[in-house]
Amino acid sequence: MAERMRILSGMRPTGRFHLGNYLGAAKNWVELQNQYECFYFVADYHALTTEPDGHTVEAKIFDLTADLLAVGLDPKRSVIYQQSKVPEVAELSLLLSMVTPLSWVLRTPTFKEMAKKHPDNVNLGLLSYPVLQGADIVMVKGQGVPVGKDQLPHLELIREVVRKFNRTYAPVFPEPRALLTEAPNIKGTDGKQRMSKTVGNIVGVTDDPEVIRKQVRSMVTDVKRTYMTQPGHPRTCNVCALYKFFFDDWQHYWDLCRKAQIGCGKKKELLAERIIETFQPFREVRAELSQERVAGILEAGSEAARAVARQTLAEVRQAVGLPPVL
Ligand code: TRP
Repeated sequence: MAERMRILSGMRPTGRFHLGNYLGAAKNWVELQNQYECFYFVADYHALTTEPDGHTVEAKIFDLTADLLAVGLDPKRSVIYQQSKVPEVAELSLLLSMVTPLSWVLRTPTFKEMAKKHPDNVNLGLLSYPVLQGADIVMVKGQGVPVGKDQLPHLELIREVVRKFNRTYAPVFPEPRALLTEAPNIKGTDGKQRMSKTVGNIVGVTDDPEVIRKQVRSMVTDVKRTYMTQPGHPRTCNVCALYKFFFDDWQHYWDLCRKAQIGCGKKKELLAERIIETFQPFREVRAELSQERVAGILEAGSEAARAVARQTLAEVRQAVGLPPVL
């Protein structure tokens, strides 16, 4: 049998797991497990670029891992690990940075955005964020990287860095490519920006039903519709957009909305209950996961990832012209 392609992806532990994380990424990660050899990790080094105090990230690492396990990541089939437990990735990032022209990272859109948003915290880690991301990927010689659209510029940069590394030293790494998730960018409750923990416009997945009801109730809907008796515009309504993911007969609801036969309040109510019901099995699995079990899975996964990392680093050091580690 041909060797299965190796997949890698990571998520930063910066807050509660939300619809954007699930529909835009994790759902795909779960499905990829059937076909590929998968490495999935909690990107806690990356989280430090915006939250420099690791202590505040600890609880979020547990939360994110538990959520990922609850939605179907399977430690028997995938290597599930914690980035900082494999410190080899930091050395690899350093070595990749030697072949990364400054101009390439300076033009990264996410860096420019962050620098604009948080001008008081433009650190070097933020600038080299995509290089560390590249190290994550090539550390396991990942070939496919399931990500959302927003990550494409990073992947492009990483491919260029990999080509340059291979050209400069030796063809050590395969060129990774992005595996785009089908779900388009999920918008947040504000109906404007992408759903994101930092923006604070999220709808949860495994949160308590009451939390989800409140989040859905806060969603901005059709701004052109002031009264229920006015016809709605489902195409530009954020609540209607989510119906596509949660109702097979979403078109029926879109019609009702267009004919002013259902109001925004009612639509939100139905949506919230459907979200709660859809994710109830996840909520149950998550409730059963103890701190010890989650820690154990991360520990075992990190050990496995580290074995791969050591091997890659040995090869890399030789290619670059550095002595073997003691
Ligand atoms: N930058 C990714 C995000 O914000 C997280 C990430 C870190 C990642 N390292 C990665 C994703 C490696 C894919 C591969 O979503």
